[in-house]
Amino acid sequence: MLARRTLIASGLSVAAIGILGYGFWPRLDGYHEEAERQRQLLTSDPTLQDLVRMSTLAANGHNTQPWKYRLTDAGVEILPDLSRRTEVVDPDDHHLYVSLGCAAENLVVAAGAHGRPADVTIQSSHEARIDIMLGNGSPVGDTLYQAIPFRQSTRSAFDGQPISASDIDLLNTAAQQDGVSVLIVTEPAELQTISDFVVEGNSAQMDDPAFVAELRDWLRFSPNEAINYADGLFSACSGNPVMPDWIGGRFFDAFFTKDAENAKYRDHIGSSAGVAVFIGDQADPLHWIRVGRSFERFSLQATALGIRNAHINQPIEVPSLRSRFARWLGMPNARPDLVVRFGRAPALPMSLRRPVQDVIVY
Ligand SMILES: Cc1cc2nc3c(=O)[nH]c(=O)nc-3n(C[C@H](O)[C@H](O)[C@H](O)COP(=O)(O)O)c2cc1C
Repeated sequence: MLARRTLIASGLSVAAIGILGYGFWPRLDGYHEEAERQRQLLTSDPTLQDLVRMSTLAANGHNTQPWKYRLTDAGVEILPDLSRRTEVVDPDDHHLYVSLGCAAENLVVAAGAHGRPADVTIQSSHEARIDIMLGNGSPVGDTLYQAIPFRQSTRSAFDGQPISASDIDLLNTAAQQDGVSVLIVTEPAELQTISDFVVEGNSAQMDDPAFVAELRDWLRFSPNEAINYADGLFSACSGNPVMPDWIGGRFFDAFFTKDAENAKYRDHIGSSAGVAVFIGDQADPLHWIRVGRSFERFSLQATALGIRNAHINQPIEVPSLRSRFARWLGMPNARPDLVVRFGRAPALPMSLRRPVQDVIVY
């Protein structure tokens, strides 16, 4: 009788913990609603603020959103927000300017689809700035525009299947940009070598406490934290479990290990149809912005074709590795800018952006 009572009591305790845990463990419902709200396509005759919202849905390093926008009589200017630099992983602001290029391209695509052809000038002074003048004309480029809300960095394993030559041609065509070359690698032996470069670069980064600390600063573990900050890298967007913030930090410290990350990267590259490497003609903000424009178009075209992509930039982030990687590419004098794997996979949750009023300056 006693045993039975004990059993019932412990059964009730487990149920109570389960019910309490269910209430206390964060869930994604409100998060998805917020992401959907931010990602509505525009109605006709969009305002400049509307175009800025489309622009901010662009890819950007660590989701720091390192941009400011100034609305002018002629259109929009995009400026760097240097308070959002990631000085460890990106000491020369390379990723920051590539991110501005991605944002510029989204704005150009969204404006074009609404009959506002854009003329882009890059002012490459000390702090480079992008001037986008908007005219009036016929709507163009609807395919890429429709893809803007659905483009994402999909940091999961892909399905291991090849991509057709005609789809790869479309990706290549979309990425064409003056001053930027794109190399597409699909040979298994070459993908294996890229995997070796990524693992070597990742090992160097994981051995650097400053790199790990900077990354940790931009991680968001719970939906509430992700919604409140509206920037940074939310666990669910990388295919990782969501959890209360105070558990998340401890979980990261315990499970974010060099071996686990290296095994994940090998698996992810092995499951990809190919890798695209973006290389600007010169290593300066002007060309980094052009690389961003090229990559964003590649990524939007991929999205339109149901193809995912994710960055594996370790070979270009670690300086000593970057020159060896350039030599392996057969471009010893170049600075390779981005390394991106692609293939097919289900979508992960979409990342969030800060409100438009927070990024417009006067
Ligand atoms: C210049 C640049 C560098 C990036 N580097 C990495 C990277 O090394 N690893 C990674 O997982 N994602 C990388 N990303 C992807 C960003 O983290 C991603 O764009 C951002 O978190 C927003 O998410 P979304 O692309 O899904 O909208 C990079 C993006 C850009 C534009």
